[in-house]
Amino acid sequence: MSVTGNQTVIRLRLGLLTLLLFAIGQGQGCQVQSSGAAETKDWWETAQFYQIYPRSFKDSDGDGIGDLNGITSKLEYLKDLGVTAAWLSPIFASPMVDFGYDISDFFDIQPEYGTLDDFRALIKKAKELDLKIILDFVPNHSSDENEWFKKSVKREKGYEDYYVWHDGKVNAETGKREPPTNWLQYFRGTAWEWNEERQQYYLHQFAVQQPDLNYRNPLVVEQMKRVLRYWLNEGVAGFRCDALPPLFEVLPDADGQYPDETVTGATDDPDDRDYLTTTYIEDRPESIDMVYQWRTVLDDHKRIYGGDSSVLLIETYSAAWFTMQFYGNRTTEGAHLPFNFNLITVMDQKGLSAQTVQEAIDLWLKNMPAGRTPNWVLGNHDKRRAASRYGVDHIDGMNMLVMILPGASVTYQGEEIGMTDGEISWEDTVDPWGCNSNPDIYEMYTRDPERTPFQWTGGSNAGFTDGPTTWLPLAGDYETVNVETELAAEHSHLKIYKMLVALRKSSKTLQNGSTKYLALTEDIFVVRRSLANSPTIVGVINFGSETKTIDLREFDKNLSGNLQLLVRSLASTKSEGTTFSAQMLSVDPAEALVLTTQ
Ligand code: GLC
Ligand code: MG
Repeated sequence: MSVTGNQTVIRLRLGLLTLLLFAIGQGQGCQVQSSGAAETKDWWETAQFYQIYPRSFKDSDGDGIGDLNGITSKLEYLKDLGVTAAWLSPIFASPMVDFGYDISDFFDIQPEYGTLDDFRALIKKAKELDLKIILDFVPNHSSDENEWFKKSVKREKGYEDYYVWHDGKVNAETGKREPPTNWLQYFRGTAWEWNEERQQYYLHQFAVQQPDLNYRNPLVVEQMKRVLRYWLNEGVAGFRCDALPPLFEVLPDADGQYPDETVTGATDDPDDRDYLTTTYIEDRPESIDMVYQWRTVLDDHKRIYGGDSSVLLIETYSAAWFTMQFYGNRTTEGAHLPFNFNLITVMDQKGLSAQTVQEAIDLWLKNMPAGRTPNWVLGNHDKRRAASRYGVDHIDGMNMLVMILPGASVTYQGEEIGMTDGEISWEDTVDPWGCNSNPDIYEMYTRDPERTPFQWTGGSNAGFTDGPTTWLPLAGDYETVNVETELAAEHSHLKIYKMLVALRKSSKTLQNGSTKYLALTEDIFVVRRSLANSPTIVGVINFGSETKTIDLREFDKNLSGNLQLLVRSLASTKSEGTTFSAQMLSVDPAEALVLTTQ
């Protein structure tokens, strides 16, 4: 299959062309041409983004909770890693029901995390180090402690329709009042909550304490644009936009009633969001348009004040037909990067193999509109840690993959050292998704395991805090898996990660080259980047449990002769700088290699 000029053309279907490709020895790999070799890319197009979960990154004041001064004190670490931009999960005033994703004041900092002055100091230091800071923008809902909600409950002028209110229905048999629909929240159970004071239900697609803002109200749309402008003025380089699918719901009918969702059959658990379809409450076209409007806010800001581009990264786990629209269309710019979660979701469904890796990559590149920038995500604070999901053995290979593939990539804090999930008991569980379940099933829902404190050292509380406690228990492996130990070791996940970032920054081929990739066998995945007058870069990963000897000419006939080893996974016993024959390359289980033609 071949993708040329960034246009998704499935050419295997064209018999003649298949023959032609075969004749010129391209084999059957997937090939993506870059749109132009000598082009200069904007900073975000090849950026290495790094997600910080502030609560768990670094505590500066001994209360066992990460904070802004903690982050500021570790900016040099990020600089040393080589990352381009850090995205901070929410740092705004919040009762912390959903650990910051329930915002009570969009214009202020959570006191546990610091002050606006601390934030300004963070931005200043980041600028000195040439690091960009991106904030989390949580548009779908606020906290029920937000002034807007309190005013809306009281029907104060201007706030009457700030949230999605409804009288509900009266059950004809019982005469009792019931929620307007059967809609379910993400965190289990009904999405409607009765408010005594206002005598109406309000919609909450997440927790009860996270009422959904009403985007059909122009005052809300304008207010949220103010939020964007406010933080742009504080010097941030853009936003990760939270939870786009539920931003809009279907319009009510002429009688003001909403339709019920239907039972899917996917689960027997009537509280689980998957119990019902989400046809009326997710992936509405208006949500796409809203992102285009936010893009205009960012571009206008740049036009007025100058400076570098600021970016929008979009969180959506939707199907490609919906996700890809966020990029924009022929006439309108959208988000710079709708997150590509395929390396998480495809593997969650089908397991990890060379085949599924190819499938996940295809799913993005073959659906992406022309001229857009791909991106690659291995994990975040909502998903089990990459090293736990793929297996610790494969964390280097997966880090290699996302840094060799074209475009931007995103690291969740800890992926660079191979952090694994913590074991959190029911008693210690704090995530609302877990807490809304019960001791028998909470592990299916809780997101606490991937949020344990960052492991800086093997010492007391992993160097995360000087205090006696941590807000979540530490993961069990911190004595061996930590920054200090891995920096001191000759070979470590962290050192591999740093070499990869450095390679990506210095290699014109990785920035601008064309891409070809293939599951050579069920176990062996190969990717090649090439650019005229620059060394070719080849990545080889063995996802299987047996040593295999491969002939890279089967993948690309131009890959003959010797290749020099640049980076190797922890499982590899080869040495960097050594050369290997492309036609007889032996690859051990879990071995991942980055090679070059020099
Ligand atoms: C996003 C966040 C998640 C949060 C939810 C509600 O999915 O990543 O952590 O709970 O939105 O804001
Ligand atoms: Mg603290």
